[in-house]
Amino acid sequence: MRSVVKKAVLLVGARPNYMKIAPLWRVMKLESAGFVPVIIHTGQHYDPQMSDIFFDDLAIPQPDVCLDVGSGSHAEQTGKIMIALEPALMGIDPNVLVVVGDVNSTLAGALVAAKMGIPVAHVEAGLRSFDRTMPEEINRMLTDSISSILFTSCKDADKNLKKEGIPPERIHFVGNIMIDSLVKVLRITNTSDVLERMRVEPGKYVCVTIHRPSNVDDMRILKEIILALEDTGRSMPVVFPVHPRTKKMIARLGWKWGSNGLRMVEPLGYVDFMQLMSNAAVVVTDSGGIQEETTYLGIQCLTIRENTERPITIAQGTNRLIKSGHEDIVRELQDALKRIGRPVPQIELWDGKTAERIFEVLKKVI
Ligand code: UD1
Repeated sequence: MRSVVKKAVLLVGARPNYMKIAPLWRVMKLESAGFVPVIIHTGQHYDPQMSDIFFDDLAIPQPDVCLDVGSGSHAEQTGKIMIALEPALMGIDPNVLVVVGDVNSTLAGALVAAKMGIPVAHVEAGLRSFDRTMPEEINRMLTDSISSILFTSCKDADKNLKKEGIPPERIHFVGNIMIDSLVKVLRITNTSDVLERMRVEPGKYVCVTIHRPSNVDDMRILKEIILALEDTGRSMPVVFPVHPRTKKMIARLGWKWGSNGLRMVEPLGYVDFMQLMSNAAVVVTDSGGIQEETTYLGIQCLTIRENTERPITIAQGTNRLIKSGHEDIVRELQDALKRIGRPVPQIELWDGKTAERIFEVLKKVI
């Protein structure tokens, strides 16, 4: 028989997940009536810089359960997570599994829970790049199709889900939970000395993150990007915290670890990275979340991708999709510097209160 207290498993696996579960964990902990949150970490990301440091920075406890699955091909990683997660969920017997975003852990978790008859709540549902060559697009579509509760961050996402035949009563427009974490961390980013460590001044440097297979797994493309960053570094410092995937590929290229202007460093924690990003002149990225964070902050962002599942960031005027060629990047960076400081309107429900809205819905429907 089920116990009276409801349990919500919050599943995380990779770096972009932690900031999305932290606000929800906090609301569940603060409210006495509701849910006992249990954090399960699949171990998809396992380096301390890609994982542990975020739990400290976000002031959430270490996970209750770690599945330690590590790296592998997509099938291997997804399969290993499923195999390890099933007995863990059996032991916990939760009332709901909350998955976030679009990483392999998201899909693996949703599949396991759906087959066990555990309701799946997907936070950040309905985003679509309409590019099925992206593993994340497959993860998004499949996760949404088997989730019982779909929490969306923008109205485009609601439209996408309805077009795919998801019953409207399952869709809840609650806003962007990542902005909850951003709003909170901005109160303490001035405690970070990252700008001094990187030897840069506010508004006078470029911040870069690149990790997508489409940019880093092809040596020719990766070389073009690094050449463009080195070039830019001659006139303005470029700070580039390097993702492990990118680091491996740069090592294969035989590139030296950054020139004077191009400062390649290990991945940063959340507080440091938010301090670095929020003070940058321009951000260059291929990440999903960073497109949204720069939009909230009103910072010009250049996204080296052919498409985005976050078109609202383009409509707001902060984000631009750009090509990966050396000269394209240098030219776009020069143009972006001219757009600095343009006013950006607020997006509906990107207000730091999304976790509370999710909690209210969960209390009603679970
Ligand atoms: C994953 C997500 C992507 C997200 C990104 C953020 C999927 C399909 N992709 O991509 O959506 O934007 O995380 O970081 O889920 N590695 C380490 N240490 C780690 C983690 C990874 O060395 O802590 C290495 C792995 O061995 C692998 C590579 O980095 O070779 C890629 O890791 P993986 O988790 O497969 O995907 P990401 O590229 O990080």
